[in-house]
Parts: sequence; structure tokens; C-alpha cells
Amino acid sequence: MKAIILSGGKGTRLRPLTYTGAKQLVPVANKPILWYGIESIVAAGITDIGIIISPETGEEVKTKTGNGELFGANITYILQDKPAGLAHAVKIARPFLGDSPFVMYLGDNLIQDTLNPLLTNFKEQHMDALIMLRPVPNPTSFGVAEVDAQGKVLRLVEKPKVPPSNLALVGIYFFNQVIHDAIDRIQPSARGELEITDAIQNLIDHQNHVEARQIEGWWLDTGKKDDLLSANQIILDTCLVNPKIAGDLDEKTQISGRVQIGEGSRLINCTVRGPVTIGKNCHLENCFIGPYSSVADQVSLTDVDLEHSVVLQGAQISGIHQRIVDSVIGQRAHLKAAPHRPKALRFMIGDDCQVELV
Ligand code: G1P
Repeated sequence: MKAIILSGGKGTRLRPLTYTGAKQLVPVANKPILWYGIESIVAAGITDIGIIISPETGEEVKTKTGNGELFGANITYILQDKPAGLAHAVKIARPFLGDSPFVMYLGDNLIQDTLNPLLTNFKEQHMDALIMLRPVPNPTSFGVAEVDAQGKVLRLVEKPKVPPSNLALVGIYFFNQVIHDAIDRIQPSARGELEITDAIQNLIDHQNHVEARQIEGWWLDTGKKDDLLSANQIILDTCLVNPKIAGDLDEKTQISGRVQIGEGSRLINCTVRGPVTIGKNCHLENCFIGPYSSVADQVSLTDVDLEHSVVLQGAQISGIHQRIVDSVIGQRAHLKAAPHRPKALRFMIGDDCQVELV
């Protein structure tokens, strides 16, 4: 069994963060989204992993993620030179996959369920494809399945205008080698891409053994700001189990709840209420850091009140006395207010940024 993880794409819905980096490297609870996928695949006993990268962000993905040693895996990078669809990515991964069955994992998806029971099902029942479904409130944004009363998949449609159900296709699939024949039989969709959804539909049309399972736990597709904040909240809630405080705290600093603080970070006169993760070499002074916040490495916060927010590497914030909530602050961003009540607001805001003074 092998695995491929798709880590290309333009990440348009996460702009401006994705102007300077891959969407799959945006951190959730201070760890790149992509890495959760790798860990979950390795936990299922699959260590031969191909990561599909794009010319724009591939180098960054490679440099950060490495050859797999970090995860106990063997990673091969496969370049997809144009964003021609998920099924196209499988096509170019064919030399890596050979005739092996494989898991295909979209690098911006996160699920709570472990892959093992699904993998066992897939193998023992000799399926050609196993897909996962989950009810969603907005099925028009996904691939959608029509199933019968027994849960058998009748039809799959990609981003339907009139959805046949509210069951979305989760971006994690199990396939055996027959998927390659199906991909060879399909044509590009209206958006000009070879859709994996169409390839699975093709397997169904050819009476191949395709099954679906509804997943029970949470599923996050971290493509947008609010999804990213929910993913951050859920991961801090469920994964921050043995927090460690490695930084240096002065006697006025108070910590409560599950709080993780990295090496070389210094907190002076701060109150931190977990779940919170603070990276390495940060400087925090006179701050309140409320639940569900992730602060990446080398961040400097002075006179800041923050809650349910993600601050990325190297950002500097000072003198903001109103609480900062539901926010994502990009790498190296500067946000500061004059010590007295500011009389004017002065901005240098990049393309596609969103600022709300609420
Ligand atoms: C892709 C798939 C879609 C699936 C979704 C899950 O959509 O085409 O069927 O439901 O991933 O994240 P995309 O993210 O490319 O719009």
C-alpha cells in the first residue's frame, strides 16, 4: 500500500497568506496542515508516500517537509506542472504508484477518524475504491454523493448546482490500480480539470466495487480563514494533550489550562488561558492570550489582548487595547497602535487582505 498527498493548487481562498506560500503549509496549532495528513498515513502503517507539488510552491513544501525522516516515512516528490485536476495528479503519479493500491489524501483536509479501520475494510472486502462522506450545510462547494437506503453510492457529482444530497466527498480516498483505467476514460470537466469525482463515477458505471462510509468525527477542509480558525480550535481542543512549558516566565505571568510554550520564548506580565500554543523565541509582554490561540515562532506581542486567533511566524503586534478576535495575522506582519488613544488609522495592507473594525 502506498499513499499520495496532493499539495499543489493555488490556495486562492486563503489569499493573501498563500501569495507567499503553499496553503498546505499554513500552520494549524503551529504545525503545517500537510503534516497532519502525513502523520495519519504513517499511523495507518503506510510509509511509502508521494507528495504532488506545484512549480509555484513545491520547493517550499520540499524544504520544510524533507525526505520523510521526520515522520518515519519515505517521501518522493512528484511535480505536477499545471493544475489540471485531482485525477491528473494521479495520472502523473503512476510511475511512483505502479500497480499498488493507494490512499489519496488532499493536503488541506484534516479528519479526526483514524485511517486504519477504513484501510482494513478496503483490503478485506477487495474494493476497487472506498470513499468517505460527511453531511455538510453547503454541498454545492464539494463533490456530492447520491446514495440509496442501504448507503450504496448511486451517483457522484462535482460541485452540483442542485445537490442530490448533503453528503460531501471527503478529500481522502482509497483506490486499487483500476482507477488508472477509469482516469484514462474520462474527459476534462467544465472547469477544464480531470476530476477524481468523475473517475470514481466511471468506476461505478463500469460495475467496479465502489463503497462509501460516512465518517463520524470532525472533518476540516482548511481552504478558508474561518475553516482555518475552526481547525485551529478543534486541534487545540483535541491534540494539545501533554502541553509543555519550555519558555521563560516572569513571576507576574499567570498560566491556566493547557498551554504549550516553546524554547527561548519569554513572557513578562502576561495572562495565558489555554488551550493555547506559543512557539519558540517569542517575546510577549503585558498580554492576555485567550483560549484557542496559536502564536508561531519569533512573534513579538506587547500590550495585546488576543483570543481565538492565529498569529504566524515573525509577526509583531503592539499597543492594541481592544481584544483581537477571530483573526489570522500573516508572517512578519506589523500591527501597532500609538500608546495614547490613536487619532487616526494608518494602513499598508496587501492585496486580498480583510480588515474589520468591529
Ligand atoms: C476537492 C474535490 C471535491 C471534494 C473536496 C474535499 O474539491 O474535487 O470532490 O469534496 O476536494 O475537500 P476542491 O477542494 O478541489 O474544490
